[in-house]
Amino acid sequence: MREKTSAVLSNSLRPRPDVLVTCRYQGKDNLLAVTCAANAGYDPPMVIVGIVPSRYSYHMIKESGVFAVNLVTEEMRDIYAFAGSKSGRDMDKFQALSLTKRECVKIDAPFLDIAPVAIECKVTGSIRTGSHEMFAATIEYVHADKELVDEKGFIRFSKLHFLTFKELP
Ligand SMILES: Cc1cc2nc3c(=O)[nH]c(=O)nc-3n(C[C@H](O)[C@H](O)[C@H](O)COP(=O)(O)O)c2cc1C
Repeated sequence: MREKTSAVLSNSLRPRPDVLVTCRYQGKDNLLAVTCAANAGYDPPMVIVGIVPSRYSYHMIKESGVFAVNLVTEEMRDIYAFAGSKSGRDMDKFQALSLTKRECVKIDAPFLDIAPVAIECKVTGSIRTGSHEMFAATIEYVHADKELVDEKGFIRFSKLHFLTFKELP
């Protein structure tokens, strides 16, 4: 038997994703770092993302009902850290990071050109889980770098070096 002890409760589920969520409301675009995210079903294809109501992005997603999930690779580390520590309330994060924005095709929101995979999502419902509101959303379209997609349309995720964002301690 291994020796066990109790540990901190929050954020104990691993591995965890680190994604950038992009959104738009009333002509304003924004992005934020999100780790409360997961696949949430395949029929229909769905994801779930958790946003804290105090985030500037929160009301944008709540009002627009759409967002894009951008997958994050190691080369995007600085972008992720910046988007996860600065608020769109105070600045245009796309401009500050010199990010190229692309237009989603099924929803009214931007996605990141630098993201190897971007998932267009439409909110179908939400649940409050204490600190976060978990937005469940159908996947409406997936953009992927051409070199990642095989002849059947499947993304070769093994070609990507996903970000592992380390927090203290
Ligand atoms: C590693 C990391 C993970 C984060 N995960 C989440 C998350 O799951 N949900 C959330 O609402 N905020 C999360 N944040 C915080 C937001 O990204 C951060 O507060 C951001 O500045 C909010 O931007 P906004 O005010 O422009 O919406 C995370 C930040 C970091 C650094």
